[in-house]
Amino acid sequence: MTETKVDNNGQINTKNIGLRGIHVADTMISGVDGENGKLEYRGYSITDLAKYSSFEETAYLLLYGDLPNQKQIEEFKAELANERDIPDLVVQTLKSRSPSALSMDVLQSAISLLADYDPDLESEDKDAHRRKGIRLISKVATVIAAWDRIRNGLEYIKPNKTLSHSANFLYMINGEKPTEEIAKYIDIAFILHADHSFNASTFVARGVASTRAHMYAAVTAAIGTLSGILHGGANTRVMKELIEIGEPDQVENWVKSRLNKGGLVMGMGHAQYKTNDPRAIILKGISEKLGTITNEPKWYEMTQMIEEITKKEFLKLKKRNIHPNVDLYSASVYYMAGIDTEIFTSLFAVQRMVGWVAHIIEEKFAEAQPKAVLYRPSSTYIGRSCGDESCKYEPIEKRK
Ligand SMILES: CC(C)(COP(=O)(O)OP(=O)(O)OC[C@H]1O[C@@H](n2cnc3c(N)ncnc32)[C@H](O)[C@@H]1OP(=O)(O)O)[C@@H](O)C(=O)NCCC(=O)NCCS
Repeated sequence: MTETKVDNNGQINTKNIGLRGIHVADTMISGVDGENGKLEYRGYSITDLAKYSSFEETAYLLLYGDLPNQKQIEEFKAELANERDIPDLVVQTLKSRSPSALSMDVLQSAISLLADYDPDLESEDKDAHRRKGIRLISKVATVIAAWDRIRNGLEYIKPNKTLSHSANFLYMINGEKPTEEIAKYIDIAFILHADHSFNASTFVARGVASTRAHMYAAVTAAIGTLSGILHGGANTRVMKELIEIGEPDQVENWVKSRLNKGGLVMGMGHAQYKTNDPRAIILKGISEKLGTITNEPKWYEMTQMIEEITKKEFLKLKKRNIHPNVDLYSASVYYMAGIDTEIFTSLFAVQRMVGWVAHIIEEKFAEAQPKAVLYRPSSTYIGRSCGDESCKYEPIEKRK
C-alpha cells in the first residue's frame, strides 16, 4: 500500500507503507499503544505480567482469556509438561540435517512433520484446537533445544517434566538445570515475547487460518515470516553485530558508519512504538543484571551505547526520534544466559507460539468478530494494459 505526500518544496513523494494503519480485524488477545509505549495481554499490562506472572500463567491467559485459578494452572502445567516429548522420527530427521542449516528452516520442516502425529490435525472443533495449540507450544521448545544440541554434535536431552517450560528449555540446551535467577529472567523474556497483536507473523498465521487450513500450516507460515531480519531475525543480527564490534570504544564509529551508509541498526525502531517499547525497558534491566551476574558487563554496556548513539545520530540525520525494540536487549540477555546466537530467532518462535495459537483460534472461531471470513485484500494492477500492441500473443517461434 502506498501513501503520497507533498513536501515543503512542493515535491510529491510516494512511499510504500506496507499496510500500516490499515484495520484488518478486531482482536481481544493483546493491544499495543504505540504512542504511549504500552502493551497489554487480555487487559493485563505486560509490566505487571513480567513482574508477577509466569510463562505458563501468561500462556493460559492468552489462550483462555483470563488468569487461571490454582486448579486450572496445575492442570495446564501438567498438560504442557506431558506434551514435551517429540517422536523419534523427528529427532532422526533433525540428525539428518546439515549442521549449517538455518534453525528457522529446520524448525519450519520439523513443525510440518509434527502435524503427521497430531490426532486432532483436521478437527475443526475448538477444544481440539486448544489441544493442538498446547502440543505446539510444548513441542516447539523440545524441537529447538534438540536441534541446538544436534547441530553442535551433542546428544539430544529429553525434556525434564518437573521443570517449568522456560527452565526446561534451558536444561535441554545446556544439559544442566539453570539457577533460579537465570530461570526467572528467561521466563520473563518468554512472557514478553508471547504475543504482540497483528505483527507480521501473526497476521500471516491468521491469513492462513482464514482459509480454514489447519493450525500447523498456519504456524509454519508464521515461522517463515518471523525469520526475516526486519521481524524476529533482528535478535540474532544484534548479537552478531555486538560480537563484530567487539569493544565499547568501537561502538560510536560503527553506529555512525552504519547510519551514514543508509544501513539499519538492528534492534532499533518499530512500526508501532513511537516511544519506548515497554518490553525493551524490562529486557534492558535484565541485561544489566546478567552482566553483573556473569561478570561480563561489556555486552550490556555496548548495547546501551548502541541505543544512545543511534538515538543521537538518527535525530541528526532524520530529524526524528528512534527507540530500541524488543530485539536490542534480548540479544545480550540470551547470550549471557548461555544460549547460542544461531537459535535466538527460533527461541522467539518458541515464545511466540502461544500468541500464534491464540490468534489462530480467535480467527477460526470468530471470537472477536461476527463471522470468520477469508482474507482477500485487493491490489491495483499497474502492469501493461491488455490492449497494448506489445501484449499481442505471438507463437514462440516468432518471438525475438
Ligand atoms: C522495525 C522497522 C522495520 C520499522 O520500520 P518503519 O515502520 O518503516 O519505521 P519508521 O516509519 O519509524 O521509520 C522509517 C525510516 O526510519 C529509518 N529507520 C527505521 N529503523 C531504522 C534503524 N533501525 N536503523 C536505521 N534507520 C532506521 C528507515 O530507513 C526509514 O527511513 P526513510 O524514511 O529515510 O526511508 C525498522 O525500524 C527496522 O528495520 N528496524 C531494524 C530491524 C529490527 O530491529 N527489527 C525488529 C523489529 S521488532
